[in-house]
Amino acid sequence: MQVGIDKMSFFSTDYYIDMVELAKARQAEPDKYLIGIGQTEQAVVPATQDIVTMGANAADQMLTAADRQAIEEVIVATESGVDQSKSAAVYLQRLLGINRYARTIEMKQACYSGTYALMQARDYVTLHPEAKVLVVASDIARYGIATGGEVTQGAGAVAMLVTANPKIAVINQDNVFMSDEIMDFWRPNYSTTAVVDGKFSANVYRDFFKEVWERYQEKNHQTLADFHALVFHLPYTKMGLKALRDVLPEADEDKQAQLMEAFEASRVYNKRIGNLYTGSAYLSLMSLLENDPTLQAGDKLGLFSYGSGAEGEMFSMTLQANYQDGLVANQFADLFNRRQKVSISEYEQMFNDLLFGSEDRELDTSADVAKFVLAGLKDQKRQYIER
Ligand code: CAA
Repeated sequence: MQVGIDKMSFFSTDYYIDMVELAKARQAEPDKYLIGIGQTEQAVVPATQDIVTMGANAADQMLTAADRQAIEEVIVATESGVDQSKSAAVYLQRLLGINRYARTIEMKQACYSGTYALMQARDYVTLHPEAKVLVVASDIARYGIATGGEVTQGAGAVAMLVTANPKIAVINQDNVFMSDEIMDFWRPNYSTTAVVDGKFSANVYRDFFKEVWERYQEKNHQTLADFHALVFHLPYTKMGLKALRDVLPEADEDKQAQLMEAFEASRVYNKRIGNLYTGSAYLSLMSLLENDPTLQAGDKLGLFSYGSGAEGEMFSMTLQANYQDGLVANQFADLFNRRQKVSISEYEQMFNDLLFGSEDRELDTSADVAKFVLAGLKDQKRQYIER
């Protein structure tokens, strides 16, 4: 029996900034941001969205009533959770109307935990073929205004439904992973923004990729020639380009050109959304699925997941014939048409306006058109509402 990703759905906020405007405001060369970093736009989060509402807004678009009954586990992967005790998954269970006999859990290991969640889902469905598991990777990437990492911020959620006989891709049993305790990027409990050793983190990412890729090839007797595409965790899209370039010389010229084309397709959406930590690799997978016209059933797609701190994992998926049926039609086009550009000073105000305090607060939700919104904090309880 084959198990994998049956459906995928995405949500990001209705606001963004333009990277040329950000570069000008920070006295940087626009080409540094556009080419050197590889980002053109960045999602900006209003106070009325957080990782719970973004996750619910992503998953709701793909779930049928039958899915909500059949789901046996809800796993939320995040490194920007809203509570140190209660899992975001149990909020999602209620907001999404998922049956009460589902397990709910939240997972953390920097940007890597979405991949662990996906593998837990695959393994559960392999043992329980009738079950469906909902995996949601939802994050707000925050480094701080005028910091070196600012150009690599972003936000959004990817929801994936894992089932037997999936529509989109079978997840193959070929995972290779490694961990090493490294201080390249972390976020202590007292901080709402990440602490990062930027250049070191980029080097560790590349080193992990090269080591995991070598081990993957040895263990599975595969080479670049076996893959249609390598999909990467994209904290910023130049990061994946650097990693790909590190291994491209292993392939012949035609294969190199084809892998580069697939890579360009896989970063179209990430360039416009920015980093969404746990969800970035899966946003890149969605970008590939929607922007690579040469994809065919049976194509092997490799995915490299990296989470600072640090952990790396490589695995492959086999594309299924009707993979488009597992995606929500026009979801990205609608998002890019709908969202509004804000100025750099408006973004700075919004950045400082998110709900991190402990005081009761009522939020004006009238400007937010999403189905699920955060309406404020009352008696220490976050007020999630559905419209
Ligand atoms: N035209 C074209 N390119 C230009 C340019 C111009 N005018 N000016 C500069 N560049 C290029 C530089 O040559 C450089 O390219 P290379 O990386 O290929 O050498 C690139 O633009 C960036 O320039 P700098 O290295 O000088 O940039 P920086 O000092 O501002 O730092 C950064 C960049 C380290 C990525 C920083 O933004 C950062 O700390 N980001 C957050 C950390 C991060 O994303 N790490 C990734 C690995 S960790 C991870 O993956 C987990 C996660 O999600 C965080």
